[in-house]
Amino acid sequence: MSKIKKIAVFTSGGDAPGMNPCIRAVVRTSKYLGLEVAGINQGYQGMIDNNIVDMDHHSVSNILQLGGTILKTARCLDFKTPEGRKLAYDNLQKNNIDGLVAIGGDGTFNGIELFSREYDVKVIGVPGTIDNDLYGSDYTLGFDTATNTVIEAIDKIRDTAESHARLFFVEVMGRDAGCLALRAGIAAGAEAIMLPEKDTSIEELIETLKAGAAKNKSSAIVIVSEGDKSGGAFNVAKKVKEVFNFYDTKVTILGHLQRGGSPSAFDRVLGSRMGFAAVKALVAGESRKTVGLRGNQIVLTDIKEALCGHEFKLEEDLLEMSVVLA
Ligand code: F6P
Repeated sequence: MSKIKKIAVFTSGGDAPGMNPCIRAVVRTSKYLGLEVAGINQGYQGMIDNNIVDMDHHSVSNILQLGGTILKTARCLDFKTPEGRKLAYDNLQKNNIDGLVAIGGDGTFNGIELFSREYDVKVIGVPGTIDNDLYGSDYTLGFDTATNTVIEAIDKIRDTAESHARLFFVEVMGRDAGCLALRAGIAAGAEAIMLPEKDTSIEELIETLKAGAAKNKSSAIVIVSEGDKSGGAFNVAKKVKEVFNFYDTKVTILGHLQRGGSPSAFDRVLGSRMGFAAVKALVAGESRKTVGLRGNQIVLTDIKEALCGHEFKLEEDLLEMSVVLA
């Protein structure tokens, strides 16, 4: 088993609060263990463009509290081609890099899975996405911060909704996964939550809103996940308004503000734990694994299993509870 000598860390796909604490942990743990360490800017694109810089303890000073990613990120199409991956490998060789820590979502993990089958490089994935939709970890980096950001916004919307007796449709991120919408909906007491994993008809939604109005609710908040099958918040609001106009209706799209902001304490600790564990895994000779948190333990999952072994399931019990408590 050849020993790892130099690790490179990169972030890829959508940024997420907690990526910086993780980068910091990778760099500092590597140095502590006597390894060289580099940062790859702009994810896979930086690997192809040789946008790689050596890092040390001080390169990651004062970043723990920063949102986004100091290494920048990109959604890179060139890495999907064999020519792009060859260029990337040549650049890793030029920089003497033999281990990679990739922080991102399933697109990022697919990249390292394929790359490490084609080339002699050890890889560990760290789940970083506000969507919390990766198998192998109860929580992904950024999810906790984003949930807090969403509920802070909804609490403010609730103030004005209540003052004006209005119905608000609030669109929350999550193209394929409703985890953020569900947790934020519970924490903010939303009257209804529309999720990509669950077909809620407009008729059902109207029944729920009518029941609320009958209980003298003077405002209502419906969270619409970006990927809901009835369309986005504007579409849903339009369809509801045609039939149910008990309240004045407004729409808020929270958009990319959900991706920014200083990481919560939870995401700072999680990023630190995951980065530390990723380096230790590479040093122990592991590869093609993802790091995750399960029941407060850091665990490794085979990357193939993380990607396609299991479908990420909607938490039905939480959904049922949200209906009862609303
Ligand atoms: O994967 C995280 C995420 O924020 C999704 O919730 C959202 O659908 C997507 O990224 C938006 O991506 P982009 O910033 O590239 O438009």
